[in-house]
Amino acid sequence: MRHVFFLVMILTPIGCDTVPTHPDNPIHLDILAKHKTHLYPNIDPFLGEKLHPNEQQLAYQIADEVMYTVDRTYDQENQQAFRDAHPKENGCVNAEFHVKKMLPPQLAKGVFTPGHTYEALIRFSNSSENPKGNDHDADARGMAIKLLTRFDTPSGHIDTKPQTMTQDFIMINHPVFILDDPSDYLSLVQAQNSTNTFVKLVTIPFALGLTGIYNAYQTIFQDEKVKNPLQTQYFSMVPYRLGKEDDPERIAIKYSAKAFVPPIQHMIHPYPEIGRSCVTIDSEDPQKNDTNYLRTALRKTLQTGDACMEFLVQQGAKGMSVENSQIEWKDQGDSAFESVALIKIPKQHFDEKESPCENESFNPWHAGEEHLPLGGVNRLRKVIYPIVSEYRYQLNHLGQAKRSHQAGIE
Ligand code: HEM
Repeated sequence: MRHVFFLVMILTPIGCDTVPTHPDNPIHLDILAKHKTHLYPNIDPFLGEKLHPNEQQLAYQIADEVMYTVDRTYDQENQQAFRDAHPKENGCVNAEFHVKKMLPPQLAKGVFTPGHTYEALIRFSNSSENPKGNDHDADARGMAIKLLTRFDTPSGHIDTKPQTMTQDFIMINHPVFILDDPSDYLSLVQAQNSTNTFVKLVTIPFALGLTGIYNAYQTIFQDEKVKNPLQTQYFSMVPYRLGKEDDPERIAIKYSAKAFVPPIQHMIHPYPEIGRSCVTIDSEDPQKNDTNYLRTALRKTLQTGDACMEFLVQQGAKGMSVENSQIEWKDQGDSAFESVALIKIPKQHFDEKESPCENESFNPWHAGEEHLPLGGVNRLRKVIYPIVSEYRYQLNHLGQAKRSHQAGIE
């Protein structure tokens, strides 16, 4: 019981003195109206997709509520809006994504073109909604990859920056998500935004249910402390299609990334030319007084040389649901994760003040036709991410204008 209380307090958000009055914020209404022309994703029954009751309507209600989360966490002093999830950036770095030269035909699809290399941007983050949180606090860590390649925007897709359609892979360092029922998700966000502590304490555990509480606990309180963002394993948590809509061989997959361990001398190197410069990743114990120790560790590693991670794919098997995001697909047998690419983060200095990720949106629906997201949680994300991203940009644009005005710059 003590742990559940602690978990609820962690899921209970920070400072509430800027809470706007619900409902009817005119900017929310404007953005919602614009995005309602958005096409809700088609489901793929062949891969086991099934709609929840009222799913599309709930997706817009969640999006509206999440915009209130952005309002609630708005930094009045610096006139800055943050991502509603994963606002603290531990580093935004340039990277290369080298697809393996030999891949089995069922995996060699879309961006997994054997031997192909992509330029990429990677954002490492903390999941707590406090953008200035202490890295020593229990939390989940995020890794969002953006392959800088262009696709034709799928019809009906509305986005803040359609001209820069990229292939994004978004991950957290735990294999399962907290919940998958849209109405529970709505209750959770509403409770988080409520100013009434009693409502939070009662609603949050009910919205999560036992499995959700267990998953949230496991995600936040991990057995091993993450000492460096390069040294934990990240998971997509929810599934994706591999293959086009009309491909009879299409499959459901999940993906993951983890530190690349170079093979010992006499073994065959899976990434022979490109993988030789990979350094051993620094995993010193963090300094107690360094509240940004993850950024420090990442920076230190990238001052030494090139850091490498492997990008892995797991194939779904019979009995593995694409709709139930709370149950892990076990990493074994035909569903064991296989390496499909080497992510190389070349030696570099990165600057948190002028981060190139700040004005970016990482979105699972930034994807080529062969990689479209699957399952209810992902379908909700198709509606929610562009709305909340656009809102964040609008507030920051207004904030920027206000700051310039205050500084006397037109
Ligand atoms: C219905 C479920 C979900 C909702 C409503 C949701 C919502 C959001 C929103 C609104 C953002 C910020 C978008 C922006 O301002 O650009 C975000 C970011 C993020 N989400 Fe989710 N999310 C959901 C599920 C997931 C899942 C399953 C994962 C697991 C991989 C995930 C991982 C992340 C990460 C890592 C970020 C930060 C991305 C970055 O670095 O920019 N989310 N989420």
